[in-house]
Amino acid sequence: MKKRILILTGGGDCPGLNAVIRAVVKSAENAGDWEVIGSIEAYNGLLTSPFQVVSLNELAVAGIHFRGGTIIGTTNKGDPFGFPVKQADGSVKTVDRSQEVMTALKQLNVQAVISIGGDGSQKISQQFFEMGMPVIGVPKTIDNDLSATQMTFGFQTAVQIATEAVDKLVTTAASHNRVMILEVMGREAGWIALHAALGGGAEVCLIPEIPYDIDIVTERINERYHAGKGFANVIIAEGAKPKGGSIVGKESGEAGYGHVRLGGIGYQLAEELKANGCQGDIRVTVLGHLQRGGVPIAFDRVLATQFGVRAFQLAQESKFGRMVALVDGKISDVTLKEATAAYNYVHPDDFRLKSARAMGISLGD
Ligand code: F6P
Repeated sequence: MKKRILILTGGGDCPGLNAVIRAVVKSAENAGDWEVIGSIEAYNGLLTSPFQVVSLNELAVAGIHFRGGTIIGTTNKGDPFGFPVKQADGSVKTVDRSQEVMTALKQLNVQAVISIGGDGSQKISQQFFEMGMPVIGVPKTIDNDLSATQMTFGFQTAVQIATEAVDKLVTTAASHNRVMILEVMGREAGWIALHAALGGGAEVCLIPEIPYDIDIVTERINERYHAGKGFANVIIAEGAKPKGGSIVGKESGEAGYGHVRLGGIGYQLAEELKANGCQGDIRVTVLGHLQRGGVPIAFDRVLATQFGVRAFQLAQESKFGRMVALVDGKISDVTLKEATAAYNYVHPDDFRLKSARAMGISLGD
């Protein structure tokens, strides 16, 4: 009888998820003694009756490496340790359904679980590992905010999309002598904003790690205007905030959604600039989920494929409780504990940040 891997994708989707799934399935089939099933919408597929699982063979994954999203669905509201359950009175209570997941894996005769997800998903993997689940993590996020891996797949695709948006905004900004503010994703990390500023060019780049001084930002923009002419591109990360201020976002109100929904700092900045005497005519673009959709660029497909292959190897070697990672440019693996120990902020000494300063990009400080 073949050994069985269960694969799942959790958290927000990200370009490259399908390339990981394909790589796990193909390497497992080529090894001969393994088969792969996928749980629909992360662990939700194991918490329904009957189970929602699909068989993943080579035919099922053919040609999916260049498709965005995930063919097995995902959710960021399905933590089995705090699962939202609607009560008779309409209110929602979170309950621990982790034991049901463990029982389901036994019933499905699963020997290894490959969980593709970000920070939140890998924390869940660690909790399950402590309960005895033979789990292996694969890091994903467009935010690049996992410190145990040099890079997550999906990030470079998001950077490419953000950079192309800057390219487009430059031509319209120049035509109208405008200030264009582009708000990009990234949660509490400024990686997408910083990379887009270096790749696309910008006068100002504001990131969560450096609270901005509105006077400095206004001055930098006004410098660009001569007798009413000039234009400026400003890139701001969704998690950025002014000095002494706080992030802009709201509680989603959705049961089981563990994050504040960020967004709106670009509009706030526009108001602050106007109130502070900014010379330019200001327009705001919020790039939003466009950064997560569509085809992954080749870099992400290649990284995702290697992560998938390595994840399968870890299953073969029974090396559980680990997450695949890119370390010093090589595909490697770390413990799940190491994987979730620290958030990957932009460090003040990072050469990308230093390069931005050297290029005259104001970081608002
Ligand atoms: O973590 C990825 C990410 O796209 C963040 O950059 C963003 O803040 C968040 O997810 C958006 O989440 P949702 O898809 O739930 O709106």
